[in-house]
Amino acid sequence: MLELQNISYRVSTPEGEVDILKNISITIPDHRLVVFTGPNGGGKTTLAKVIMGLVQPTGGKILYNGEDITGLSITERARRGISYGFQQPPRFKGITVNDLLLLAAGEKKLTKDRCCQYLTKVGLCANDYLDREVDVSLSGGEVKRIEIATILARGSELMIFDEPEAGIDLWSFARLTETFEQIHKEDEATMIIISHQERIIRLADEIVVIANGEIAHRGDCEQIFPLILADTLGGCPVIERKEAATV
Ligand SMILES: Nc1ncnc2c1ncn2[C@@H]1O[C@H](COP(=O)(O)OP(=O)(O)O)[C@@H](O)[C@H]1O
Ligand SMILES: [Mg+2]
Repeated sequence: MLELQNISYRVSTPEGEVDILKNISITIPDHRLVVFTGPNGGGKTTLAKVIMGLVQPTGGKILYNGEDITGLSITERARRGISYGFQQPPRFKGITVNDLLLLAAGEKKLTKDRCCQYLTKVGLCANDYLDREVDVSLSGGEVKRIEIATILARGSELMIFDEPEAGIDLWSFARLTETFEQIHKEDEATMIIISHQERIIRLADEIVVIANGEIAHRGDCEQIFPLILADTLGGCPVIERKEAATV
């Protein structure tokens, strides 16, 4: 179980102090699929990085399976079973897709067949990719899918995916959605997926809408979908205020 207790993240900018995350508390029981969604700049990636240990919160606590992990490094969190897929994954010149999958799997020696299976789950054909270097010759969507395959190969207990849909064609996206659905059905892991895609949002046990560094709404799809539509179809508050003032 993951518990975020009053998580805040405040940074100093030339314009003064800015609160990126404001007192966020959520508990995520094991084997849930939770989607974080909400407008760009709302704080979703920062919150995911706080869970992984890439960003140190300025307030609050993170408990994982009852243990306070707030002060632990990324490596220590990874050892405890947490993994994170970047919104924009890094590339590794000189390292092949096969190397990355083997590294991710660690002690569990992967056969070529297993590597193929992980790549198929993200909509890539192993024959075309296993020996390719993870360098600039791959597109953003390809690197993204390879990173997701490495997270699957690692087999963590808690997997965090940051906008897995980014740069991915519809066919591969359908494959990826099926993969998330299957992991969830088979209770293989807890998943936090940051996404704007209706198909992923519909898979979630719980949807958390994050806006302005706060939880704006949370609930299941039926409760949250109408609210998301209302929020996104609303007008621009600045223009509306101006119009109201001139009437
Ligand atoms: N270290 C930082 N310094 C200043 N601003 C930051 C820092 N980290 C994040 N931000 C800002 O915080 C806001 C939330 O960012 P982010 O978590 O990436 O949002 P989201 O993933 O929801 O689009 C953005 O406006 C971003 O520019
Ligand atoms: Mg983001």
